[in-house]
Amino acid sequence: MCGIIGYTGKSEATDKVILGLQVLEYRGYDSVGICTKGEGFDVVKTKGRVKDLIKKLEKNPLPNVGTAIGHTRWATHGSPSESNAHPHTVGSVCLVHNGIIENYRELKRDLEEKGYSFVSETDTEIAAGVIDYFIKQERDTKRGIARGVSMLKGSYAFAIMVEGENDTVYAIRKGSPLVVGKADDGYFLASDITALLPFTKTYYSLKEGELISLMPKGAELDVGDIEWQETELTYEAAQKGGYDHFMLKEIYEQPRAMKNALSPRIKNGLPDFTVDGIDDELLKGISSLHIVACGSAMHSALAARSFFEEIAGVPTQVFVASEYRYSPPLTEKDTLVIIVSQSGETADSLASLRYARGRGLKTVAIVNVVESSIAREADYRVYTYAGPEIAVATTKGYTTQLVTLYLFGVALGVEKGKIDREKAKSLTECLFFDTQRVCEAVLGRRDEIRKIANEIYKRDDIFYIGRGVDYAICQEASLKLKEISYIHCEAYAAGELKHGTLALVTEASPVIAICVQESTYDKIASNIKEVKAREANVLAIINEGDEETHKFVDETIAIPRIHNFVAPVL
Ligand code: M6R
Repeated sequence: MCGIIGYTGKSEATDKVILGLQVLEYRGYDSVGICTKGEGFDVVKTKGRVKDLIKKLEKNPLPNVGTAIGHTRWATHGSPSESNAHPHTVGSVCLVHNGIIENYRELKRDLEEKGYSFVSETDTEIAAGVIDYFIKQERDTKRGIARGVSMLKGSYAFAIMVEGENDTVYAIRKGSPLVVGKADDGYFLASDITALLPFTKTYYSLKEGELISLMPKGAELDVGDIEWQETELTYEAAQKGGYDHFMLKEIYEQPRAMKNALSPRIKNGLPDFTVDGIDDELLKGISSLHIVACGSAMHSALAARSFFEEIAGVPTQVFVASEYRYSPPLTEKDTLVIIVSQSGETADSLASLRYARGRGLKTVAIVNVVESSIAREADYRVYTYAGPEIAVATTKGYTTQLVTLYLFGVALGVEKGKIDREKAKSLTECLFFDTQRVCEAVLGRRDEIRKIANEIYKRDDIFYIGRGVDYAICQEASLKLKEISYIHCEAYAAGELKHGTLALVTEASPVIAICVQESTYDKIASNIKEVKAREANVLAIINEGDEETHKFVDETIAIPRIHNFVAPVL
């Protein structure tokens, strides 16, 4: 993931682009660059972070002009280095890119035969070459860009400047997000609405394939008018608000975020999704469910899957979005496809949504980012209202997906006649009140948890084990641990360990066992004994009042006792 920002207007562009890059740094921070457009392109780039770019700019200030584009990178093609950093200039074109160009090798060969040469290892530089080539062929910038991008396979969001067009920035996207902002003193482009918030609340989400030209005097779409919108997000909400980093802030925002996700959909104590256009008839007609998502969003679906089957009696399958199209599952006419996504822009999830729609299936998007591509293209959208999630490692994004799925399951259970209204009321109450209350309690135990983390962070391998829904939680926990600590970690269905992987469990590999579900307690207790026999150090996540587990593990974290179905939230 990378961050793009662009500005053209009456004010000095460099400061604005630098501020935008600082806001976008969460999207990538291994290299960064900026290009201003005066008489020619003036490019400054560096390996490292925005602060390194600022230092470099102090020594080599850019001309005081009103047009610039910038980029903060998380390397996908070519290592993090100054030459691989964006912007990339080829011929008459200078551009920044977010996405991946899959057919860059063949395009590179063609361009080299035509006399082009390249200095970086990136797919982006090749894309710049293709666009330059077609602008020259067409002798028209817009037609050239359109023809150039039609040659590209993969995903892209581009901000493009062209020689001889001093104050124009062009943008086009496919599969990667891009929003346009309108302020009093000019126009902006950004990968993410949060980067517009220091400057304006008026925005337009660029649709796939639309080509927009931004000039200080106005913005023009190639087809149609721009329907500007006002965001309700505030710049303050996208700040760290006194926390050391965004992930920490977002962890602490979870109780409020869950409340925001649930409250619009509870009426008279019962789930009600009519606010999202999902009525009783639609729910009644569902014969099976496919939940499709990536990473943590997919893990939230795994945690909710058995609940859907148990409470609503609806056969439910969970799919990794990057696989959904390639091993097409059987569907029925009334299969409902739910796409879960925080950003609403994840390429594989979006492709799965299109695939499902292409097969004539109804689709629901459980999504956080309002007006994102997935939200726009789904038949129904259920916003999770978690607020901006800036940290790449999702926390409140995941928990709001989880509670929204649970609430949907309860609604389905009522309409399918599998649970009565009283049962539905008590589940809804538990979901709404208990989760928030006990979640606060768990978050208050940071010191206790930090003490344990301080003991295990030097280990090279960690295992999470669990059964049933506890195993689904292990999968998310393990992903988070890998992503944040860079420690190798595996999540294992506890009963599966003995079929080979137990060989890797030693006293050097701590095992974290989630033993919260009562129905599987005896089984997981046996599995813990297996890993203890291998001298592993075991930390068990248990229910408060569990007097038994202490006796055979090394450490415990007890979570407040809560209804089994919402315990995964804790
Ligand atoms: O924006 P999405 O929910 O579609 O993103 C899907 C995954 O990339 C995401 O959940 C990822 O696994 C997390 N950021 C990891 O913490």
